[in-house]
Order: sequence, then structure tokens, then C-alpha cells
Amino acid sequence: MKICTIIGARPQFVKAAVVSAEFAKHKSINEVIIHTGQHYDPGMSDIFFKELQVPKEKYNLETGSGSHGRQTGRMLEKLEDILLKEKPDFVLIYGDTNSTLAGALCASKLHIPIAHVEAGMRSFNRKMPEEINRIVADHLSEINFCSTKTAMCNLKMENLGKTGELVGDVMFDCSLKFAEFAEKRYDPFAKFAIEKNGYALLTCHRAENTDHKKCLTEIVKAVNRISETMPVLYPVHPRTKKFLNEYGLSFSGNVKLIDPVGYLEMILLEKHASFILTDSGGVQKEAFFYRVPCITMREETEWVETATLGWNKITGADSKKITAAFADFTKNRPAKTSVKPYGNGDASSKIVKVITKV
Ligand code: UD1
Ligand code: UDP
Repeated sequence: MKICTIIGARPQFVKAAVVSAEFAKHKSINEVIIHTGQHYDPGMSDIFFKELQVPKEKYNLETGSGSHGRQTGRMLEKLEDILLKEKPDFVLIYGDTNSTLAGALCASKLHIPIAHVEAGMRSFNRKMPEEINRIVADHLSEINFCSTKTAMCNLKMENLGKTGELVGDVMFDCSLKFAEFAEKRYDPFAKFAIEKNGYALLTCHRAENTDHKKCLTEIVKAVNRISETMPVLYPVHPRTKKFLNEYGLSFSGNVKLIDPVGYLEMILLEKHASFILTDSGGVQKEAFFYRVPCITMREETEWVETATLGWNKITGADSKKITAAFADFTKNRPAKTSVKPYGNGDASSKIVKVITKV
């Protein structure tokens, strides 16, 4: 069986790491990796292939950055030739980026069955580019692998129930697979001169925040306030770097800005943070995996379980709400929970089992 996996953005390299490792155990499966080139800085791409041993891509579309239409269009043009040549039995796509959308559109027009990992997620906010990408990808996929029961319900609401397979979350698999190894090999605390369990970790890159000066200004204001209580470490996404410069915004001295880090350093920084502030999907989940209180600077979350179980507060980009959530978490730690909404760490093996049975 031949599978063409289409990936291109940072979180997709993380997700593919565990699924591709599972494919490699099956001699009957020939996986061909296609990298769209949506992310291309070494710190946003190469480092993940090296650290997580994602198999090297056979094709790199070298798409680069651009507006949604341009970026997706460039991908489609090159993908079509490759899929026509490779003639895979399945195309595998992940998540909700423009690389996911291009993979779904291209494969479906060529009548190649699609399997979508992390399907069924909904924010119910169509202003998010990711929401459009998810809806299209789910509706064009033969198999929609879901991380959560919520995702399965979302599919049912759109009459896609029959395509859903509840397997758990591949990022949870990844966190279990690499956490111990990271602890043994890496020491980001010495490297970034930060005290274990004595800092807040920040990530921020979501277009709805970066592309609006008011939102990014509110976030910077809140983070500066929080940094009066404890140091804040911030691996800066290139998108946000650009907008911080454009708006002339700056953080105060107790906020340490660093380049994006690799996954193995990142999970250590997450695990040993006192708090996480983020607008990332993956980082919200990882905060929950490591039971670190998380403040999500968005208006809604797709990972609703993290919030209902008390480990995630949804504040939007509102400096007052962000600092209030921080104060609240400082006084009241979330209640311990052994509930496992993201599965048992075997999502990737379940995915491969389902695909090989088709
Ligand atoms: C994309 C995804 C988003 C995901 C994120 C993960 C879409 C619509 N969005 O957002 O869902 O959460 O990836 O990180 O697909 N840039 C660089 N170097 C790089 C990559 C990007 O400098 O290697 C800069 C460019 O200025 C580019 C900007 O970042 O214009 C945005 O990159 P892009 O891939 O378009 O979107 P992300 O914000 O990364
Ligand atoms: N990540 C990383 N280094 C960083 C920031 C994030 O390795 O500097 C990892 C993070 O641990 C998670 C994934 O990247 O596994 C999430 O990607 P991102 O936040 O870019 O995208 P999203 O999940 O929001 O789509």
C-alpha cells in the first residue's frame, strides 16, 4: 500500500513523527513524504525532522510564505503532478493548515482517498483560516481520525459521522514517546538561564492576534504585567516577530525573547513552567498533558476538555482577563484529574491499523 503524507507546518511534523514511525513497522506500507515548504526556517522545520526522526521528504514543494490564495495555489499546482506520478492508495493529511487544505483539494479532485488526522475540530468561528481548512478537509476525507469524543460529535452534526474514527490524539502519543528522552538529553533551563518551575512560558502566533494591533498590544500589556510577578520565556514565532516590529511593540526586561526552539526543548519548557500563556492549539493540549495551568488568549478553544476540566482559562486578547486568569490560577490550582480525554497514547497505532484494513 502506498501512502502520500502531506505536511508543511511545525505542528504537522510533530504529529507525523509518531504516525510515520508506526508506518515504518509495516513492510507492506510505502510512505512517501511530501513537504509543502509552508514552514522553511531551519528552526521551524529541519529541527523537527532531525530530533523526531521524521522520514526525509521525497518532495519539497518549496512553497514559502504568501497570502492564503497564493500559498494554497502554489501548493496545488505542484502537488497535482506529484500525486499523478505517485498514484498513492491514500493521501494522509494533518490538522488545519493551508498545507492540509491543499492536500485535501488536490487528492479529492484526483479521486484519491484521503485520511485526515485530528479531524472534527471546530471553533465555530469561520473568521479563523484554520476553521475553513478543517471543514473542507473533513468533508473531502474518507476517514476522519478524531482525537476526542467532541470531535466525533462535531462530525455527526455535519452528517459526517460515518467517516469518523475515534483514535485519540497523536500529540499525546508524541508527548509520551519523547518526554523521558528529552529530560535525559536537554537542559533548556541552563541554556536560557531560567529557573525550573519559576517562570511562565508564552507562545503567540495566531493570525487573529498578530494581525490586529489592538490584540497584540493587549497581549504585550498583560505579559508585561505578569512579568512583574515572574519571568516570562517566549520563543517567538516568525509571524509575531514581524508584527511586533511593525507595530513598534516591546516587552519589558523580565520577558525573555528567544528564537523558536525544537520540540524536545519545548516540551521540557512546558512541563516545568508554572504557567503557560498561549494561542496555539498544540500548546494548549501539551499544557494539559503535563498538567500545567494554561491561559488561552483566544475567544474560544477547540480543545474544550482542557477548559471544562479546569486547566485552561479562555480569555481572548484582553489584558484585564489575561491578568485576572493569571491571578486566579495563582490562588487556586486546578483540581487533579486522571481523566484522559485525549486517549491512551496509542492513537498512531490505531490509525495505522484502520488504514491497513481498508
Ligand atoms: C500556520 C498555520 C496555523 C498554525 C501555524 C503553526 C495556516 C493558515 N496557518 O500559521 O494554523 O498554527 O502555522 O505554527 O496554515 N515565516 C517565516 N519562516 C517560516 C515560516 C513562516 O519567517 O519558516 C513567517 C513569514 O513571514 C510568514 C508568516 O511567518 O508570512 C506566517 O507563516 P504561515 O505559514 O503563512 O502561517 P503561520 O502563522 O505560521
Ligand atoms: N513548538 C516547538 N517549539 C516552539 C513552539 C512550539 O517545538 O518554539 C511545538 C509545540 O510543542 C507543539 C507544536 O510546536 O508540539 C505546536 O505548534 P504551533 O503552536 O506552531 O501550532 P498550532 O498547534 O497552534 O497549530
